[in-house]
Amino acid sequence: MSNETFKLNNGKQIPSLGFGVFLAQDGDETYNAVRAALDCGYRHIDTAAVYGNEESVGKAIQDSGIDRDEIFVTTKLWNEDIRARRTREALRTSLKKLRLDHVDLYLIHWPADGWEEAWGEMEKSAKDGLCASIGVSNFQIYHLKRLSEISETVPAVNQVECHPRLPQHELYNYCRNHGSITLEAWSPLGGSRKGASLRENPVLLNIAAKHHRSVAQILIRWQIERGIVVLPKSVHKDRIVQNEQVFDFYLTREDHDRICTLDDGFRYGSSPDTFDF
Ligand code: A2P
Repeated sequence: MSNETFKLNNGKQIPSLGFGVFLAQDGDETYNAVRAALDCGYRHIDTAAVYGNEESVGKAIQDSGIDRDEIFVTTKLWNEDIRARRTREALRTSLKKLRLDHVDLYLIHWPADGWEEAWGEMEKSAKDGLCASIGVSNFQIYHLKRLSEISETVPAVNQVECHPRLPQHELYNYCRNHGSITLEAWSPLGGSRKGASLRENPVLLNIAAKHHRSVAQILIRWQIERGIVVLPKSVHKDRIVQNEQVFDFYLTREDHDRICTLDDGFRYGSSPDTFDF
């Protein structure tokens, strides 16, 4: 079951496996995917205002009949709202769409101009009970240093692109040593772009064959064993179920060492240093 949790730096628990819905279409696609995820044991859903599917996520959570307290829900403040200084309104809009009175985690989606002020507003929203924890996404070390200069609140998490080609060792160590910020991995399976897929990588295929698992399961298990919250996305029930079945095997030290050799710094997504949206 995917309810294995990590402890955040504010004492709250977060399920180590979350279900990602980036690029899932609003409507049936997202609704059915989230229902399937909740049915097979996920208790952590990761969405964002910009994904445009919060309403379907909210309806799926409500219809699941699972107690609100049992599901960890994350959403994110979009860049336009950061730039327009609309943090509180944006959070309220997300909550309404999600049919929730609070989210478990609210993140600054990207370090867009104005994020420092947004952080102050998020601290207030947390005090007011609209979000249980606050954190950031796509922050590099220099952003985190800046944040520590302007606020005493350490982010609970930093959600970044992370997979064997971009294992984020330096950022991981910084986060660990500066207030125990938990890293979360987006695109843990190498994303949805055709071509340069991690899922056909020979090293990973070999490790997967040895454990009688899929490469996706190896990629997910690897993050959990590193203490990183992992957010695989799928809209297919068989894959949703498969990606959850990662709590009944272990990788070896040698597996970890071999996966480490795949680090070439490659990003499937945008860089926090050069993003232009
Ligand atoms: P789909 O949604 O069609 O199932 P990431 O989580 O790194 O963003 O990767 C998501 C991509 O990986 C999506 O294209 C998703 O496709 C695909 N995917 C998710 N789980 C699996 C799996 N177990 N096996 C193969 N592909 C998968």
